Amino acid sequence: MMNSRRVFPAFILVLTIIDASLAFDYSEAVDKSLLFFEAQRSGKLPGTQRVKWRGDSGLYDGYQQKVNLVGGYYDAGDHVKFGLPMAYSVTMLSWGAIEYGRNMMDLNQMGHVLNAIKWGTDYFIKAHSQPNVLWGQVGDGDSDHYCWERAEDMTTPRTAYKLDTEHPGSDLAGETAAAMAAAAIAFRPYNSSYSDLLLVHAKQGTFHGLNAVCKRVLYIIGLLGKMNCCGRQHGCIEQPKTFSWDNKYAASMGGTGWAVKEFSWDNKYAGVQILLSKVLIDGDGGAYTATLKQYQAKADYFACACNQKNAGYNAPLTPGGLLYLHEWNNMQYAASAAFLLVVYSDYLSAAKSVLKCPHANVQPQELLMFAKSQACLDLIKADYILGKNPKSMSYMVGYGQNYPIHVHHRGASIASISVLHSVVGCVQGFDAWYRRPEASPNVVHGGLVGGPDKNDNFEDDRSSYEQTEPTLSGTAPLVGLFSKLHSINSHYAAGPTPTKGQSNSCE
Ligand SMILES: *[C@@H]1O[C@H](CO)[C@@H](O)[C@H](O)[C@H]1NC(C)=O
Repeated sequence: MMNSRRVFPAFILVLTIIDASLAFDYSEAVDKSLLFFEAQRSGKLPGTQRVKWRGDSGLYDGYQQKVNLVGGYYDAGDHVKFGLPMAYSVTMLSWGAIEYGRNMMDLNQMGHVLNAIKWGTDYFIKAHSQPNVLWGQVGDGDSDHYCWERAEDMTTPRTAYKLDTEHPGSDLAGETAAAMAAAAIAFRPYNSSYSDLLLVHAKQGTFHGLNAVCKRVLYIIGLLGKMNCCGRQHGCIEQPKTFSWDNKYAASMGGTGWAVKEFSWDNKYAGVQILLSKVLIDGDGGAYTATLKQYQAKADYFACACNQKNAGYNAPLTPGGLLYLHEWNNMQYAASAAFLLVVYSDYLSAAKSVLKCPHANVQPQELLMFAKSQACLDLIKADYILGKNPKSMSYMVGYGQNYPIHVHHRGASIASISVLHSVVGCVQGFDAWYRRPEASPNVVHGGLVGGPDKNDNFEDDRSSYEQTEPTLSGTAPLVGLFSKLHSINSHYAAGPTPTKGQSNSCE
């Protein structure tokens, strides 16, 4: 294994060159995925809005509740502003910007990425209307789903839900705080006063009126990122403080004991496990080394399972090679796993470390795969998203020649308010637009739809919402992922030999 490594780079390089004719344009994928966030905007649209088929909407959100909740993002093909997936999406955009900001700048996309983050965080700031109050949702699923109308025509109730000292919700509060903390890091080099403002909200969100244990677990996601960003030499976070909870709560909260199989807005353990592994990989474990090793064992479990290198459970794949975990919006799990594996691969390769997977024949653990090859494996998964699949279909809307044209998305499926000025009513939308066999009049560029079933089949039909609905949470990891993949491609295109020690090569 060790010896064969010497010949591997040249082999991969040849493969890459051969593959170049089939190579996907990741820069276009980054560009499109950011457009999706503009299509999902709620509130008053700015003059810089590029998705022109959208108009202002939700301008009275919070009015009834006497709080300004205008802004933020619609979750998917509907018009509910769900706090938890929105916060997760902002976290993922921010994490992507923290890891791959340089690549985003090379692509001239950093401004758009920051705008996408800020559209979410400006809303979170409003939603965090008092230190102990967080508005967690506007609109409700049942009544929203009763209508098929454009956001600009919305007639459904804009019920708003809040967390406060009588209505605790540490998961949502922690997630929102983590999103603001992560965004604070992403913004730090570009606008330090906005970054400071986000940190104030993140800290209040985590330390007031919440379950004491949960808030700390979630907050650490942001804190660790901050530590990475500022560097410990700047003293922005004192490590012992950050970790003072660790040994006490790590096991009882499940972080060290729970081997997870998916990473999503609903379960972020794999992300925590990989972030905490970085501390260990970087040699900063100190007194917490034993606990961190337990985290890393779980991070390895996740990565090995995705790559089919676990001794027991391996992540299920479709015959075409797509990670397949759920019938409903499965693609989001493939996208988030691809992001995590690329990040983990970078952490490992930066430290010249390796991923340790159990041997398939249950022999003692050995090094089966170098972390860098993870990124190469991931290339395949990401390419599945963009069209390297049995249907030759891009599951990112508007990318390439062949993509879903009956997307389960109210706004996309009805003529734009700028074209059709008259109101399209709640039920009228179903009759006149939802059931229409033609392609949707608007292309909701960049949205990652739910994707194919377990046999790689895909029904491009608005009523197959499990397959054709695009979501914020599915699309968010793609921004960082494709920025990174683009840099790998450019790296090979630019030089004859991959540089040793470069974390983004696949040798
Ligand atoms: C920084 O953010 C603040 C707060 O949102 C904003 O008012 C200001 O214009 C921003 N500064 C720059 C240079 O973008």
